[in-house]
Amino acid sequence: MKIYPKMPCSTVSSWKQSKVNRQLCRFLKKINKCKVNRDDLFVYLFMLITIVVIVFIIILVWRLGGDRCNGQRIKQALCKEYNNGVITGDLCYSICIEKSIPLHYCVSETHSDITYRHEESLIKIQKYPAVETLPYPISLETFQDKVFQFLQYNLGEIDSPQLFDRVLGFTDFNANGEMNYAESNTLWQLLHTREFFILLIFQDEASFPKINGTCGSAYAYDYIPSSPLYQKKSDVNPVMQYFFPNYNQWMLPSWEKRAQIAIGLLELSSILTESFSTKFYMCDIKHTNFGVSTDFEAKVVNLESVMSEQQLLHSGGKKRCYFDSECSYGIGCSMSCDVNSRTCSNVPRRPAVSFICDILRDYVLFDSPEDCKFLFESLISQCQSLTSLNHTISHNVIPNKIKDILWNQVKNKPVDWLKPRKKRSVVQKNVPLKKAKKKLRV
Ligand SMILES: *[C@@H]1O[C@H](CO)[C@@H](O)[C@H](O)[C@H]1NC(C)=O
Ligand SMILES: *[C@@H]1O[C@H](CO)[C@@H](O)[C@H](O)[C@H]1NC(C)=O
Repeated sequence: MKIYPKMPCSTVSSWKQSKVNRQLCRFLKKINKCKVNRDDLFVYLFMLITIVVIVFIIILVWRLGGDRCNGQRIKQALCKEYNNGVITGDLCYSICIEKSIPLHYCVSETHSDITYRHEESLIKIQKYPAVETLPYPISLETFQDKVFQFLQYNLGEIDSPQLFDRVLGFTDFNANGEMNYAESNTLWQLLHTREFFILLIFQDEASFPKINGTCGSAYAYDYIPSSPLYQKKSDVNPVMQYFFPNYNQWMLPSWEKRAQIAIGLLELSSILTESFSTKFYMCDIKHTNFGVSTDFEAKVVNLESVMSEQQLLHSGGKKRCYFDSECSYGIGCSMSCDVNSRTCSNVPRRPAVSFICDILRDYVLFDSPEDCKFLFESLISQCQSLTSLNHTISHNVIPNKIKDILWNQVKNKPVDWLKPRKKRSVVQKNVPLKKAKKKLRV
């Protein structure tokens, strides 16, 4: 092939049968500093057009591919039900009538639902109905009875009239104090969506995202920007890890802010067990299931893993077993197998707070202030060793000591040190709902 560089350009440029030759030719021409002739001009023009076409196709695919989850069909079905008066909700108005929520940006898809992102909210649409629509017509008494039975089945004997009122009051969208068929049906669909049910129960708690509109079984809630809570060393790619051993700690908020977040996590563990007459468990307590809001509040991002004692029982508690390993529903819900009765117990072996302390060890202990580090470390170790039994007996003594240490470090901060907090709590409360109510009345 030595002959090539010696060829005069005119010879080479007539060799245009194949792409390879053409490229070779141009390459040689550059070397030989030949003049561009007409044929080459044609080649350049052709290449330019090809590039333009490719860019155009990429843009087209990107635009159309925005709806990667093929949600248009599901959206149409949702709006059809809305127009037929089977379902209702403030979100329906925005999606179907106002069309202000385009549902283009699909974040994730599972076998049962699609999640979209719209501004600061996530919108989750169910692919299949979780439950049959209610018979039409249905009287208010019958419906209330059904809801009551539903709550009893899922939460056991609840002694909280507020909870019952909150659930029933949730879908009175036109605020007329009555429930029409679409409203009852919407609530019925939503209650059977497990994640939503948990969200609704814990709506007043800072560690749960806020609901921001519903439409049938679809619902919107706060998008939590920083999740997971942090990266474990083992999550970091080994090459990065080698050159920057502490890479996973670079992006963390300041220690004081993490202390504030940690207090929220510790409070969450008591909220789960003490809010109602029934206990709730988080069957998968790990750093990836939490996030941090812009106002430095720890938030649960994986609601699927939160279950009431009753729900856990229905999904297999008290089942026959030979080994502890047969009684596990995720790390937070590992029960023991009772050797005498050969059934799974219905209390997890480790309390939620001990898992939270696993997280705190990674998240706040390593750079905690020197004056409290020693005590802090010993308390964290004790907290991690808690079993459900000694946690029940000592009842929060150790977690409360940890909270005190953290609190002592942040209590003297100026009021607005986590600035966005104030602004958001004003925005969050009531605004979206009121707006929706007004819209519907028109
Ligand atoms: C709630 O949704 C509306 C649009 O439907 C949006 O304008 C608003 O920012 C959302 N609120 C929050 C707190 O995300
Ligand atoms: C709780 O009980 C377990 C097992 O009996 C024990 O190993 C652990 O040290 C106890 N933890 C505390 C804080 O008492």
